[in-house]
Amino acid sequence: MKKIIELQNVWKTYFLGEIKLEVLKGINLEILKKDFTLILGPSGSGKSTLLNMVSCLDIPSKGKIILEGKDISNFSEDQLAAVRGKKIGFVFQQFNLLTHLSALENVILPTIFQGVDKETREKRAKDLLSSVGLEKRMHHRPAELSGGERQRVAIARSLVNHPEIIVADEPTGNVDSKTGKVIMDILTDLNKEGRTVIVVTHDTDLQKFSNRVIKIKDGEINDQ
Ligand SMILES: Nc1ncnc2c1ncn2[C@@H]1O[C@H](COP(=O)(O)OP(=O)(O)OP(=O)(O)O)[C@@H](O)[C@H]1O
Ligand SMILES: [Mg+2]
Repeated sequence: MKKIIELQNVWKTYFLGEIKLEVLKGINLEILKKDFTLILGPSGSGKSTLLNMVSCLDIPSKGKIILEGKDISNFSEDQLAAVRGKKIGFVFQQFNLLTHLSALENVILPTIFQGVDKETREKRAKDLLSSVGLEKRMHHRPAELSGGERQRVAIARSLVNHPEIIVADEPTGNVDSKTGKVIMDILTDLNKEGRTVIVVTHDTDLQKFSNRVIKIKDGEINDQ
């Protein structure tokens, strides 16, 4: 299959006063188009840092990130934001929903920055919420939803601009195991529909959902 994202010798280094912290140490990896890739590693191993590189949220200290053949390693924040808005849907462990907005308004929000007209965006958001089983919860605010429902709102939101790539950082981290299975099944269906899915987790039980597992330990890919 074709590669969609490639990391070449990617390093991420933070400086905390005198202390130099090398969080990613020469990562090489390829994400293939339409794959369901799981990035697996213990807490603190650099998974979120790595996912931020893969999903254009951050740029490396050293090395290259190639998205569909284009080197984006030196893109400005505005250029990265434009790529994200067009191509990538995000699901986070803490859901990151806006508390004062309803489920429907949360899902609509990303479309406003993409210039989608009002009627289209409302229909799209309603269809997506229905597709994750929340047709009766559209007007609830996050505080009036369960953890699993909140994560499903977040998934609906990640899809609203029709991204080709979905990235999820510990999407099952704050829900019980039964709800976690529901979330992973939704991501599996999205992958079957042709989207590239990348999930980061410390949970080895999630390996069964993916068709490719990349293991990370202490900032390095570890295939042992
Ligand atoms: N902005 C930052 N400044 C300094 N250090 C950072 C920063 N972001 C992350 N780190 C450090 O980098 C290491 C890896 O962090 P990261 O969040 O990528 O780990 P993780 O594998 O996602 O862990 P978890 O499973 O707990 O979410 C940690 O030791 C963390 O303290
Ligand atoms: Mg993390």
